[in-house]
Amino acid sequence: MNPETRLMVRGAAAVAILVLVTGCRQDMHDQPRIKPLGANSFFADGQGARPLPAGAVARGDLRENREFWTGTNADGVPLQALPMPVSRELLIRGRERYGIFCSPCHGATGEGTGMVVRRGYKAPSSYHIDRLRLAPVGYFFDVMTNGFGVMPSYASQVPPADRWAIAAYIRTLQLSQHFDAGVLLPEERARLDAPVPAVEPSAPAH
Ligand code: HEC
Repeated sequence: MNPETRLMVRGAAAVAILVLVTGCRQDMHDQPRIKPLGANSFFADGQGARPLPAGAVARGDLRENREFWTGTNADGVPLQALPMPVSRELLIRGRERYGIFCSPCHGATGEGTGMVVRRGYKAPSSYHIDRLRLAPVGYFFDVMTNGFGVMPSYASQVPPADRWAIAAYIRTLQLSQHFDAGVLLPEERARLDAPVPAVEPSAPAH
């Protein structure tokens, strides 16, 4: 073995030993720690998981804008107007979300005769009855947030911005069924009679 080869062999042996020795270290595995939700004698209540400190807020969940989060004003009265400007984007988003989450029961036009209802689920009131046409827009947000009768809450599936978009779209549906098309100019009337453009799926709002 010439000196260079010997050096290389020694080097390789040193690396192999280093790998073996460090591979045996278990410090990170064995350190004392509390398993999530496991029992632990360290705390007086015997639980490893600690209660949240009072007033803790999850990231992105600071509900400082009461109207946006609850649909009601400081007196608990449902809002008469959307807490954001109405835009074409908002209505398109609302139409898309309504189609996904509400139309299975309430139907595409809000008559309350969606496919689930036709299969036997309780029929909701039509959105076009006077009581619901006169209901404040915040009422629709509230029903989506808290549920109504047999209808469950949609708060966990539909984030608040989308609930407002849907509420705005329901207003559009209501107008669509109670609009005097006779007041339209001929070119506007032609646009009304034109086929409805397909809805492009949009990214989820937060
Ligand atoms: C699984 C079927 C179903 C789905 C999906 C559904 N609803 Fe409902 N909804 C109902 C039923 C049934 C009622 C009536 C409940 C009752 O009277 O017990 C109702 C009631 C309502 C009411 C109250 C009407 C009133 O009479 O005051 C509103 C507003 C409403 N739904 C909006 C929505 C919106 C918006 C969505 C979509 C986010 C939605 N619903 C999704 C079944 C559904």
